[in-house]
Amino acid sequence: MIAHVEPFHATAIGRLAYELAASGRDVIHMEYGQPSTGAPAAAIAAAHAVLDAEAGGYWESPALRERIARHYREEYGVEVSPEQVFLTCGASPAFVLALSCLFRPSARVALARPGYVAYRNAMRTLYIEPVELPCGPDERYQITAAALDALDPAPDGLIVASPANPTGTVIAPEEMAAIAQVCARKGIAVISDEIYHGLTYGDAAQSMLQYARDDGVAVLVVNSFSKWFSMAGWRLGWLVVPPALIDAARARIANLFLTPPVLAQHAGLVAFDCRPELESHLANYAHNRALLLAALPRLGLQQIAPPDGAFYIWADIGHMTNDSLSFCRRLLEDTGVATAPGIDFDPVEGNRFIRLSFAASTREIETAIERMVAWFAMERQAAANGTV
Ligand SMILES: Cc1ncc(COP(=O)(O)O)c(C=O)c1O
Repeated sequence: MIAHVEPFHATAIGRLAYELAASGRDVIHMEYGQPSTGAPAAAIAAAHAVLDAEAGGYWESPALRERIARHYREEYGVEVSPEQVFLTCGASPAFVLALSCLFRPSARVALARPGYVAYRNAMRTLYIEPVELPCGPDERYQITAAALDALDPAPDGLIVASPANPTGTVIAPEEMAAIAQVCARKGIAVISDEIYHGLTYGDAAQSMLQYARDDGVAVLVVNSFSKWFSMAGWRLGWLVVPPALIDAARARIANLFLTPPVLAQHAGLVAFDCRPELESHLANYAHNRALLLAALPRLGLQQIAPPDGAFYIWADIGHMTNDSLSFCRRLLEDTGVATAPGIDFDPVEGNRFIRLSFAASTREIETAIERMVAWFAMERQAAANGTV
């Protein structure tokens, strides 16, 4: 039987948003988790120079693999050899690569619910069974060592994301250590999605590699140029595997994906040296985050866990609807503000949630707030009157 895979519903909202914009409507994109800014200027300049100078065949940049290895030493104090780093077309294939290196069909892999839509759906395409652990505001929507330890039988694997999508919450260092201990004790392999590293509003996020022990269990790290580096369309990311899995990863990447775009690899290497420009994006997100958090009472939204990182607010709209997809569609059609339906991220309770991305410009966020305040007031009134 062919695996059933659910659609990514936010893409339907995205399509409608682009149709409306094409018909002349003023649309504000808060549905996709992507920076509205482009790649750093120096990275774009490097790509221009390469375009004129090189044929651009299949290629893996040794310098970029070395630069990524250096990044682990400098940012996390962790030794990673360039051979452990595999370059991919973004985090999405890196995740498939990681799953296929680690798990057989029917393996059970634990993850937090809510969580990024593709974790569950990519696992299903590989006939791996997602074991979703419901995580609420009390645990800040993140998996805990205690919940993982309580799973009987223990899962074969675990996915962690800190900061997470859709909530932006971070796992505290002591909880990371406790999770790593449970994994080592029970032989649970870990895939850590660190795509939002760099985008935090307090302490820097920790890498799961800081808790990997030589005698412990496999820890694989997924990362990408799509968020911090503001290069989603360049399709570049990476996977770090333990030495024991280098051959398995090499065989799979050559057969499944080959190499990422040459231009992106050259640009990505330069992007590592563009910190001031990237820090300015973070300052913009921090400002937008504060604006939205301050506006939540005016929107009648109380149930949120303030995000420690990424650029999302995961908001409970259960007092207005139990159908997040049609809520997002109506909000978009009426106001031009595109948001992501919670059903993507939580198949059980997601119909009472939406995700607001604040990776837009501050002017757009201010306009979106004004439009949503009036519209949400009407929705609350309609829900109170029983007319929706
Ligand atoms: C948590 C998470 N992981 C992975 C991805 C996929 O990113 P990429 O563009 O690098 O494939 C996303 C994209 O939004 C994400 O939010």
